[in-house]
Amino acid sequence: MAVKKAILPVAGFGTRLLPASKSIPKEMITVVDRPVIDYVVQEAIEAGIDTLILVTHPAKHAIENYFDRDAELEALLEKKKKYDLLQQIKHIIPEHVTVVTVRQPEPLGLGHAVLCAEKVIGNDPFVVLLPDVLVDSSDKNNLAQMIEQFEQHQASQIMVEDVAPECVDKYGIVRLEEVDGQHSNNILGLVEKPPVNEAPSTLAIVGRYVFTPEIFKYLHLAQADKSGEIQLTDAMAQLLTEQKIQAVTLKGETYDCGSKIGYIQAIIHYTLKRDDLNTQLMDFLDTIK
Ligand code: G1P
Repeated sequence: MAVKKAILPVAGFGTRLLPASKSIPKEMITVVDRPVIDYVVQEAIEAGIDTLILVTHPAKHAIENYFDRDAELEALLEKKKKYDLLQQIKHIIPEHVTVVTVRQPEPLGLGHAVLCAEKVIGNDPFVVLLPDVLVDSSDKNNLAQMIEQFEQHQASQIMVEDVAPECVDKYGIVRLEEVDGQHSNNILGLVEKPPVNEAPSTLAIVGRYVFTPEIFKYLHLAQADKSGEIQLTDAMAQLLTEQKIQAVTLKGETYDCGSKIGYIQAIIHYTLKRDDLNTQLMDFLDTIK
């Protein structure tokens, strides 16, 4: 079964980006000239996704509006003969892609957000992308590779990245199987935000997942943790009792745009990738070095 559907949980408050996120959804904060979530949506579309399910909150209409057509703006750009801009805003979502929204009625965590999309997913395999994290793959789109691995092995796939030991308590951490002293890509265990002295490794889950639909069974069974949230990582740990889950090591860079420094790094990185802006940015950086 081909993987064509993706869930993007966008209902969170974004407390790490306050005060900006008080009135702008954190997913709409701009990197160069596009909101953060646009990068993640384009990554999904490039990987072959044709149905994007936004799990959202009533205060986050700006996200839906961004992905919708705006007839008034299109007419204005047409009238002013700004055809380049017109093409850009008309084709944010290609015609073959559908955007669906479902609500997360209560802030009960990432696992609960994924569960809110269950009826739209049905019995299909699906992708989850966390829109705080920008992934810039160094070669082929990493998500596309995860989908290929999924289709080949019919096993859920989790993207992981090696992080500094002092950061393991900010992530879900995986334990990999060892064969003849070498790590295989089979995950043997997962734990959400462990203290460094209890972490099974420094391999962190970085916000890209491909799941079999059986994950929903374990999300229904998952108990809220001490902060009252249902963790996706806990459901994955239970899924392991029934099915294989494999790790895919990130090739490229990630930027955590939910944190101030990650967001600033993302702006610099993506500006340097732009032919129309990189020289000016380099000139500026030279003046402040
Ligand atoms: C979530 C997940 C965690 C994962 C992280 C990646 O945590 O629960 O397992 O490692 O995203 O960004 P959050 O950052 O939402 O607290």
